[in-house]
Amino acid sequence: METKIKSAVIDPSIKKKHKLEAKAVKVYYDGFTAIKGIDMNIKANKVTAFIGPSGCGKSTFLRLFNRMNDYVDGFRMEGEILIDGENIYKKKVNVEQLRKQVGMVFQKPNPFPKSIFENVAYGLKIQGINDKKYLLERVEESLKQVALWDEVKDNLNKSALALSGGQQQRLCIARTLAVEPSIILMDEPTSALDPLSTAKIEELIYQLKNQYTIVIVTHNMQQAGRVSDYTAFFYMGELIEYDSSKKLFTNPEKKQTENYITGRFG
Ligand SMILES: Nc1ncnc2c1ncn2[C@@H]1O[C@H](COP(=O)(O)OP(=O)(O)O)[C@@H](O)[C@H]1O
Ligand SMILES: [Mg+2]
Repeated sequence: METKIKSAVIDPSIKKKHKLEAKAVKVYYDGFTAIKGIDMNIKANKVTAFIGPSGCGKSTFLRLFNRMNDYVDGFRMEGEILIDGENIYKKKVNVEQLRKQVGMVFQKPNPFPKSIFENVAYGLKIQGINDKKYLLERVEESLKQVALWDEVKDNLNKSALALSGGQQQRLCIARTLAVEPSIILMDEPTSALDPLSTAKIEELIYQLKNQYTIVIVTHNMQQAGRVSDYTAFFYMGELIEYDSSKKLFTNPEKKQTENYITGRFG
């Protein structure tokens, strides 16, 4: 059976542009206020970096965009998160569908204890897609996008767990891309990786931004400077400054931003 899913990779004329917005967002974990009222517009088809000291709310804020906090005990949110103008916390929103559109890559590579092929095909298979030819095509494309294809093409049936950490993280990104999201959230995707693997992921992020809206949390300010178009500096649950990365790193408006980027705290 031929599947109807169109691929933006196969057909680059399919332009995907999706913007994210936060309106008066507050997040509580029980009595603790983790996000203290943030308004933000995140631009489509750009890379936006979230920086700030540990515990300032970067992950919490990032996870709002695919509702990954929903199951956290004590989590409560006020305000609105909109994707293309649609409030994703409305009752009628299909969260499964949302997470397909808004993919996520975590700090530690988390491949399933399955073959390389099965890892990448996983998201398609759970959607009920079983067309072998199509699956192989998508797996190949996704692995090519993350520059892993040449390294694994002769070993697609090998366990993903046998790959190096850097390869595993690229595999996890391929797994995310295979279901063709339009937005990719990355929470410190290179913090567990060696410099060479980190460079490969950074190169990859750069390549992907034409097709995807990417938000990346990073501890590493050099990384934010290298990969992102825009940078947002968070401090204690507040968005202190948000600007083009060039401006923020060379001529920040706020003293707190300057102190942070010059390494005076954090
Ligand atoms: N599941 C949770 N339960 C209670 N508090 C949490 C939970 N997750 C995060 N927090 C708290 O919320 C604040 C922001 O955390 P987080 O978003 O992880 O920050 P960051 O990613 O910037 O390090 C921290 O004070 C943290 O301790
Ligand atoms: Mg975090």
